[in-house]
Amino acid sequence: MELKGKTALITGGAHRIGRGLTLSLARAGCNLILHYNHSVDAAQATADEARAMGVRVLLRQADLSRLDDAGPLFADLPADLPPVQILVNSAAIFPKDTMADMTVAGWSQTFRVNLRSPILLTQAFYRALPDDWPGAVVNITDWRTERPYLTHFSYTVSKGALDAFTRTAAIQLAPRVRVNGIALGAMLPPEGASEAYWQSVLDTVPLARSGGTEVAADTLLYLLRNDFITGEIIRLTGGAHLKM
Ligand SMILES: NC(=O)c1ccc[n+]([C@@H]2O[C@H](COP(=O)([O-])OP(=O)(O)OC[C@H]3O[C@@H](n4cnc5c(N)ncnc54)[C@H](OP(=O)(O)O)[C@@H]3O)[C@@H](O)[C@H]2O)c1
Repeated sequence: MELKGKTALITGGAHRIGRGLTLSLARAGCNLILHYNHSVDAAQATADEARAMGVRVLLRQADLSRLDDAGPLFADLPADLPPVQILVNSAAIFPKDTMADMTVAGWSQTFRVNLRSPILLTQAFYRALPDDWPGAVVNITDWRTERPYLTHFSYTVSKGALDAFTRTAAIQLAPRVRVNGIALGAMLPPEGASEAYWQSVLDTVPLARSGGTEVAADTLLYLLRNDFITGEIIRLTGGAHLKM
């Protein structure tokens, strides 16, 4: 898919990894619908950076845990903006819980943001895409679905289901829409994490460094541009998945 001039909607695009993905789309010439929830200042700053690259940016606020119908996120766009052909589901939460102490409320919130909203957004995206227009969805997931965290039960199960959704949607929405995923490893330390904690994570990475946002952004552009990839989930782990 040629990206220049396409319209892309990205969730959680204001800061950190989402910001890196947003700016890479802008650099590739995509007009953007930049979704945020609480981070209005960061969203405006990221939108300004993207606009400085010559693309159009609309901001959309939404609490994805309350989403029952994602249709409005794709509606009321300026008449001269092409329909959304790219959807990037990056917003997520990463709460701590275990099988033993998880609550229905906590589980539900995690599933609403990390799984239910990407599904509803993908459905609305597909319904809004004009007939015969190609589209692409990229879900941001986590390689730790393969080696589950002991400390993030609901998160790990929600991202595992997101992986299954990615493959299921790829087969259901073909041939018009491709659906892929990026399973991130140690890209950026979680907000508030100590240096010692982050070093202990990096000690498990054969390439002995974190990925950063650029690596995720490059992979996003690769998945969008390559028209023969669908149902694929690319691991970005620096080799961590090879270690016992
Ligand atoms: N950081 C890593 O190394 C790493 C590793 C593996 C996977 N990942 C995945 O990569 C993605 C981005 O990670 P990150 O570390 O940059 O995340 P982050 O800093 O925790 O940011 C999460 C984003 O999700 C949005 N969000 C959270 N709850 C929301 C809700 N109820 N409604 C709408 N938006 C909501 C936030 O929007 P607002 O700020 O506007 O509220 C924010 O933009 C996530 O899918 C994460 O699971 C990251």
